[in-house]
Amino acid sequence: MMETKRILIDKNDIRDEDLLEAARILREGGLVAFPTETVYGLGANALDEEAAKKIYAAKGRPSDNPLIAHIASIDQVKPLVKEIPEAGRKLMEAYWPGPLTIIFWKSGIVPYGTTGGLDTVAIRMPSDRIANRMIALAGVPVAAPSANLSGRPSPTTADHVWEDMNGRIEMILDGGPVGIGVESTIVDVTEDVPVVLRPGAITMEMLKDLLGEVKIDPAITGPMRPDMHPKAPGMKYRHYAPKADMVLVELSDETREKLEDKEGAFVKEVEQRIADQAKCPSIRPEDYLLALEVDKLAEEAAGKGLKVGVICTDETRSEYVEDDGLFYAVRSMGIRAKEETIAHNLYRVLREFDDLGVDYIVSEGFSRTQLGQAIMNRLTKAAGHKIVKI
Ligand code: TXA
Ligand code: MG
Repeated sequence: MMETKRILIDKNDIRDEDLLEAARILREGGLVAFPTETVYGLGANALDEEAAKKIYAAKGRPSDNPLIAHIASIDQVKPLVKEIPEAGRKLMEAYWPGPLTIIFWKSGIVPYGTTGGLDTVAIRMPSDRIANRMIALAGVPVAAPSANLSGRPSPTTADHVWEDMNGRIEMILDGGPVGIGVESTIVDVTEDVPVVLRPGAITMEMLKDLLGEVKIDPAITGPMRPDMHPKAPGMKYRHYAPKADMVLVELSDETREKLEDKEGAFVKEVEQRIADQAKCPSIRPEDYLLALEVDKLAEEAAGKGLKVGVICTDETRSEYVEDDGLFYAVRSMGIRAKEETIAHNLYRVLREFDDLGVDYIVSEGFSRTQLGQAIMNRLTKAAGHKIVKI
């Protein structure tokens, strides 16, 4: 066990004197956890293979899983890559600094120890000002995966990092809770058509607007089959995993269609049930249907003696009742109509259920467009693709 220093940093008053020790640790081959706008990262010098090895050891992560090199300014890209294709240039101009990682062909100075043996390198310029200043002061690109133990939900606060990394790394920079809450979008520009390897806050819709044709790695949209080889090696692990078993409840296309006919018999029937039974009379029919099914599955599991956690939204919170002597914990992830609030709280809620010792989680599903795609990607992975369609 080493002693882990924790340094509190005020985002509105970032002083170099508070970051110089972190920069020195990084230059000397040590590990520093730091905030970014997406999740906390666990940083090491990206050009130092020995330092990269320490990251894998601290996380307990398979070392074939490549790391993202974080930079502080655009001029740091050129030395790390073979070339910057047109799509890469456009992406950098539009979305850096920000929650976007770009995969390029790597140059000779990037060690295979950082790229998990690949000839490509993932690069990201975070917008978080603490991250940016720390990287600039370190003077080297900083390799950083999320600062969690492998298999645990990504950390969105310094306390999460502390839980997982205390005693394993030299320093944690505490810059408060992160903004976005899910990891960066990853886009590979090494082929003719850019490919999204991981959805995030820079959405598919935004990428298509900017680049025209964009493909999506099949490992994102469905369960992994043994014959699939996801281009981001990290996507093959069960990742983002809570300790509990988990199931997601989603509306089927058929139900969605029926709900669209506002004057139809189906909607009228649901509205009648809401009027008769719902705790919140203004709940939307689609939200009510989800809540009913989630509650049913959760009650069944709790009845069997399992410790159950329910993930709901502010819109449906009133429909769940926590009592009857059964273990039945309910947490809202945020406002369904504002998906950024859901992304922001997602990993915190999964961690909370871990801490409560929950063994079965039932979660409401979300849209699969815009930011919903990133949210559903993380949730379906956490659930091992167990989805109930109603
Ligand atoms: O938001 C983020 O990206 C956070 C913060 C700390 O910046 N970092 C992060 O890193 O999520 P990590 O290591 O948890 O996820 C990196 C993902 C993995 O799935 C990995 O396989 C993929 O990026 N990746 C890295 N380099 C790659 C490469 N050269 N080719 C394909 N995938 C790559
Ligand atoms: Mg991670």
